[in-house]
This record gives sequence, C-alpha cells and structure tokens, in this order.
Amino acid sequence: MGRALLVALIGFAVSSVLAGTNVDPKVLDACPGYTASNVKVLGGTLTAALKLAGKACNVFGDDIPSLSLKVVYETKNRIHVKITDASSARYEVPESVLPRPSAANPVPPLLANIQFKYTTSPFSFSIVRTSTSEVLFSTASHPIIFESQYLRVKTALPSNANIYGLGEHTNSFRLNPNNTTLTLWSRDAYGVPSGSNLYGNHPVYFEQRKTGTHGVFLLNSNGMDIKLTPGALEYNAIGGLLDFYFLAGSQTDPTEVAKQYAEIVGTPAEVPYWSFGLHQCRFGYQNYIDVSQVITNYSAAGIPLETMWTDIDYMDRRRIFTVDPQYFPMNRMREVVDYLHAHDQHFVLMTDPAVGYAPGEGYGPFDRGTQADIWLKNSNGSAHLGLVWPGVSVYPDWFNPKIQSYWSNEFSIFYSPKTGLDIDGAWIDMNEPASFCDLPCDNPFEQAVQQNLPPPRSSPPPDPNTPIFVNATAVGRINKRDNLLNPLYSINNAAPGGNLSSKTAFTNTVHANGLTEYNTHNLYGTMMSVATHQAMLDRRPGKRTLVITRSTFAGAGAHVGKWLGDNFAEDDHYRLSIAGMLGMATVYQVPMVGADICGFAGNTTETLCARWATLGAFYPFMRNHNADNAISQEFYRWPQTTAAAKNALDIRYRLIDYFYTAFHQASELGTPVVSPMWFKYPKDTATYGIEYQFFFGDSILVSPVTDPSSTSVSIYLPKDVFYDFKTLAPVQGKGAQVQLSNIALSEIPVHIKGGVILPLREKAQMTTAELRETDFEFVVAPGADGSASGSLYIDDGESIKQARQTEVSLVYKFGTLTVLGQFGYKTGVNVARVKVLGVSKAPKSAFLNGKLVAQKGIKYDKAAKVLQVDVGLPFTHGFTLTVV
Ligand code: GLC
Repeated sequence: MGRALLVALIGFAVSSVLAGTNVDPKVLDACPGYTASNVKVLGGTLTAALKLAGKACNVFGDDIPSLSLKVVYETKNRIHVKITDASSARYEVPESVLPRPSAANPVPPLLANIQFKYTTSPFSFSIVRTSTSEVLFSTASHPIIFESQYLRVKTALPSNANIYGLGEHTNSFRLNPNNTTLTLWSRDAYGVPSGSNLYGNHPVYFEQRKTGTHGVFLLNSNGMDIKLTPGALEYNAIGGLLDFYFLAGSQTDPTEVAKQYAEIVGTPAEVPYWSFGLHQCRFGYQNYIDVSQVITNYSAAGIPLETMWTDIDYMDRRRIFTVDPQYFPMNRMREVVDYLHAHDQHFVLMTDPAVGYAPGEGYGPFDRGTQADIWLKNSNGSAHLGLVWPGVSVYPDWFNPKIQSYWSNEFSIFYSPKTGLDIDGAWIDMNEPASFCDLPCDNPFEQAVQQNLPPPRSSPPPDPNTPIFVNATAVGRINKRDNLLNPLYSINNAAPGGNLSSKTAFTNTVHANGLTEYNTHNLYGTMMSVATHQAMLDRRPGKRTLVITRSTFAGAGAHVGKWLGDNFAEDDHYRLSIAGMLGMATVYQVPMVGADICGFAGNTTETLCARWATLGAFYPFMRNHNADNAISQEFYRWPQTTAAAKNALDIRYRLIDYFYTAFHQASELGTPVVSPMWFKYPKDTATYGIEYQFFFGDSILVSPVTDPSSTSVSIYLPKDVFYDFKTLAPVQGKGAQVQLSNIALSEIPVHIKGGVILPLREKAQMTTAELRETDFEFVVAPGADGSASGSLYIDDGESIKQARQTEVSLVYKFGTLTVLGQFGYKTGVNVARVKVLGVSKAPKSAFLNGKLVAQKGIKYDKAAKVLQVDVGLPFTHGFTLTVV
C-alpha cells in the first residue's frame, strides 16, 4: 500500500508530517508483514531470514524488504529477539552507553522458563511460559512493519492487563490498559503534565497476572509512541531496531523480574550513607548569606539537615563553573562549604550541560571546550546553539572521545577541594537537552533570557530553520534519505508544535562519532550522568558520590539517581509522586529517586508541605526544593510542617540502616528498595491497582493520607499480620479496606509487615554521622507462623571498595532470636535492646547467650503486646536471646 492510498484511507490531507497517533490501525494491519525462511536452530540460538510477504505498504517510508532475525536464549529467564535490516547496518544503542549482558552461553530451550514460538508465513512470534504454556507476548494478529523511520510491533494482551512501566510519565502506576499513549522522547516538561512525554525514557514494562509476573524491554533509544488499547500493546518507533529482551520473571515472586531486568541494565550504583539524610534546596536563594541562614535555621529548629544545595543562582550570569562575584563570591561560598563539612554536613551544586556561548570573553569552560572541539555540531560542522539559562549556549557532545577529560578537568578546577567548591555530590539538569526556544526566540521570557545575557559573538548563529542536507555521517549509521527533522511518523511529542527538535538540540545535529541527535537524543542525559559520575570519582578517587540527574535512559541507575522534575505544589502532584517513584525504583532500576517535596512550582501551604514532609521521608532521595517565584518552603517555616518533618525524619533516620541494607542488596542483586503492594502480595488481585500505598524496603508499608487536607484515609491491608510502627501493636489485615481517622498533620500511617526483624537505630540525630554512633534496637515483628528474619549491612558509608564490612543475619524462631554474621566493620555501638512484638502474655524469663537476664531488664506492655529486653552488648559479635 502506497502513501497515497494511506492518505485516502485515513481521509485527511497529509502535509509533510502525519500525526502518528491518529493513523487508522486498519491501515497498519493491512501491511504484508514478513515470511521467515532459512530458519536455523543451534542449541539456544535461532536465526532466520525475513522477507517482505507481499506488496510493500510503505506507510511512513519504504518497507525494508529483507530483515534478519536472531533469537538467543541468553539465560533460562531471558530471551533476546533482535530483528534488523539484513542488508545494511542500522543505528542501535551503542554498547558504550548500555553494555549488553553476556550472551556467550545460550541455554538449551528445554531448560528455559520461557519459550520463543513462531510461525513462518506470515511471520509472527510469541513468548510462552514453559511451565504453563501461557502466552505472554504475541504478534500473531498484527504484521510487523519495518521501515527506515518507522517500526511497528503489536502484541496481544489479556483484557484489562496490569502493565507498569514505559516511562517516564505521570500517568497512574498501573497504566490504563484501554487508552494510553506513552511517548518516549526526552523533554523539559515543566509541570510534569500527565499523559505527555517527560524527561527520561525507559521502554520496559512489567506485566502482573495472577499466574505470574514477566517483563519486556525494547532496547531502542529512538522516539516512540507505545499505545495501550483494549487487549493490545503497540510499539511505534521512528528508528533503531526491534531489539527485545523478554524476561520470564516468576510465577510467585515479582522481585525476580526486577532482578532479571537489572541483569541487562545494571544494578544501581551504591550511594553514600549520608545521601539518605535530608536535602534542602531551592531556586532563588539570593546570596551566600541566604544559604547560610537556611543552614542555621534548620539547626535552630532542631530539624536534621544533612545536605544543603544551591541552584543556578550561584553562577555568574548563569554560566556553569563560575560564581557570581558579588552575590556568591568564591571565598564566602568556600566558607559555607567549610562550615557544612565542619558540622558533618554536605553540599551539592547544580551543573547544567549547556555552556554559555562566549567567544572572546575569556570564559574558560567555553574556550577550553572550543579548543578541544567538543560541542555538538550542526551538519555543516558549526557548533549547534540553543537557548538555556546562560542565554545562547553550546552543548557538550558526550560521544566526543575528549569529552570525559574536558568535563573532569572542569570539575577538577571549579570543584577543587583546595581552591574551588568542594561539593559532595552533583546535581545535573536540563539534560534532555533543554532549549527554551528554537532561536530566534519570540516569547517575552525567552527574549529576556537572551537579552539579559547578551552573548558577545563574532558571527550570528546559523538560522536553525534552514533545511540542512545531512552529509557528515558515518557510513551505514544514517540512511541519507532519512528526514531527521520531520519523519513521516510523528510521535506524540508534547513540546509546542510537537516537532522532535522543539525546545531541544536539533535532531539533525551530529555527534563526534557520526551519530545523529535523531537517534541518540534520548541518551543525552544518561551520557552526561556517566561523565559527571566519572568526573566526581576523578576528584575524589575511591569515594562514592551522589549524582542526581533529570533525564535518564535505561541503565542510568547504574551510575546516578534522579529527581522527578518540575512538579507543582498541588495535591495531585503530591499523590502522583508515588507512581513516579515506583516507576523509577521498582521498574527502571533507578532507585535513588524522589520528587520535589512540598512542590516545585507555585506556592505550597503549611498543610500540603506538612503532609509532603511525611511522605517524602519515604522517598529514597528526600529533598525539599522549589522554584524561584514561589514562597519559601523550608520545613521550619510553619509550626505544623516543622512538627511533621521532625516526626517523619525521626522514623526515617531510625530506619536508615535498614534502608541502607536494602540499597546494598539492590546494588548486588537489583532487588527494588521500594515496591508497590502487589510485589509482596502477587496473588492478591486487589493490590494490583493500589497507587498510594507502597513498601519502603521489604517490610515497611507506607500509607500516606491521600487528600492532604483530610485527617483520614482508607487503606488496604492484605490478609497478613502487621504492626503499627508508632504503637508497635499488632494489626490483623483482613484483605479489606481499613478506615484510619484522626491522623494529625505530623503523622503518616506506617505498618511493619509481620515476618521481619528491623535493625533500628535507637533515635534520630541531627546528622547521619552522629546517627552512626547511636546504638541499635532490634524490633522482632513475627509473621503469622511466629517467625521473623532480617539482615543488616554496615560499612564505612562512603568507600567504593570496602576493606571491612559487617553483615549480619537476624532470625527469630520458637522464641529465640539468633544474631549471626561477620563483624568486619567496627561500628563502636551497642545493641541496646530487643523488642518482640505481638507477645500475648508476659514471659517468665529471658536468656541472653544462655545467661538469665535480670528481671529489671525485661519490660512487658500488655496493651501493645510488646516485650522489651535490655541487651546492652557491643555490636561486635552475634548473640542469642531466648524468651520463655
Ligand atoms: C529546572 C529544574 C529545576 C531548577 C531550575 C533552575 O527547571 O528542573 O529544578 O530549579 O531548572 O535551575
């Protein structure tokens, strides 16, 4: 079917671009598909040739006549299906950005938990669970379409499927399976609008069925729309390959699918212990005095502040690697940093990618970058210009072989511990990459950015609207006929005008290795993340660091954490932050994540900020941040918010070691550090759609008040034993909603899931350094069978390679707690006491390492059913405690 016919079929005039989302599905289903031939199977590998099965339909370009198919059973839980052009190389995500997992030892299909099945004519394939023959993915009813700038694969889904992932987005966590389009194209998405593409791209989903959980990852960085319609999921990508990884997951434990995905994209980077403390930031601190006052106000209010941040305000005319000589002079900022460090606190600064375009001005970062020739280029070889905070700007090309030495060098100069600003972590932003407008700008804000910071330059920027013939390409990487600015299939990019290049670097710009921005746009933020992580390591070799980015692609979490971007101080965004966090932490393997607490844009209120403080205490990354035009919202600004922050931080800090242990396990295995309720109750279908309750670590159930101004909330408790975190009293879950009322603004409902032993610190402290010197209290929360277990990992909190570690297992069975493990890292603290929950009658005696404990060391609270035994042992050895 030719394009003319298509136009007739869909019944509207086509200008240069078709709105891809509006195409009649019948048009696509009328395409011929492919026929498989020359199928060869060798152990766990299958190859075949795919030939166009009929007259080309050429929907959005020419159908590629011959494809090659390769299927590898890479592990018993992972099948890799790769379909590409048989006769010429196509762009695929470079290994340098996402190294592929090993495929060296394919497993025999007989041993695998999922199977690849296919039909030859017309070619279609399905993925089937071996043990049950259940079909997990099937292209049977819809032909595959493979054109230069358009790839389509459509799979059947069960009706009302439970699909999670395919972000970044601000839809519900469980996606509406009947009418959702997810567009993957990095975008500076102020206000994180629901239903539109946002900053990052993670083309992976987990599907939950009562029969099990599985996952599908399409490794493709091109722009795409993924559409969920009744009974189907359809990929529409504008380039790259069909490069699928199918994950068997598990029939019983959803955690397995997360671990299997981590085997592809990498397990998360470990972060320093201190990074779990409270972070304070804002856009709009006026000067160094302002910053110093926030630090002292926090301590005066008795709210622990671990890390102070400063936004672009500190820069000289918003140019990176500079300080404003009058408002944030270097010597005074160094005083701020020294003060923080002297108090065991930390400091993070913003670094945007865009470098102010400043020829002849003596601006070192621009001059050195120009000298090294590392800017992203237009196809005529000139540096590509955009408009970002410093006015007209150039963008570093993260593919340039010299980029790491440039970036590390700038970090080592400006962030030099000796002469510059000794930051502990880096904040990287605007790395979609963002541009406020396509130059020349016309709206007043954009013109102001431009005018306030007039960039002196020797020649005017090239007119970005000039159509440019792409000629600076590496052989085989770019189809020269491709339309890099306006492909015929137009993804549903929400940037004004919807053009791919709108408000970002133009898609016809070219990287040093010949790759175009068209293909690699979605990788920009991740590549900046990797380079920044490396630059931080170069500054402080051997030490972990915290890098928080805005834009991410699959695999970013192996290097950095992420915040959820520019939300609003609104109830909706308070609630939506949970889905955003779960997407990143549970599905995409970017667990160091949090939203701007109290809201970024717009004025928050005492009530909303109080509620948000309590919710934010259970984000892995806890930061209060707001916009320059909004009222101040540090937690100490209002009495009720102060109380809420103090209470929530008290819980968080006591739990930090429990969470740090979860994070350590995540970095080894890919187990999520926060998860939705269905992860723990996969057979309970009532949990599949729960949006606002989640597990912090394995066993802390957080159920925030969903309407911030209300004092009640209805929560779901599965059939299981829980304990109220505050009173420690048992609560029997009945698989039903429970109405909680009178929840003060400073409170948040938190339950301990029965079956765990929590290694709590005895009490919170003003810094995490002090917290590390605080004794432990072990809380045994038995499950329905009366037993419980837990673990505790401790190290020095900051070295990448640890010389000494403490790893302890905690087991409680038949009334005996056994603490066992290796105690390589010397904590210098005691286990002060053990609390056993759900004890229905007062015990007669307790034995610590076989020795009778004096009666005064035993307390029993009949009402809460809590037994407390003083232990007071140095935490250098294991011990047993038996209660009879
Ligand atoms: C972007 C960031 C925001 C930051 C602002 C100024 O909007 O998302 O967090 O405060 O830029 O740097």
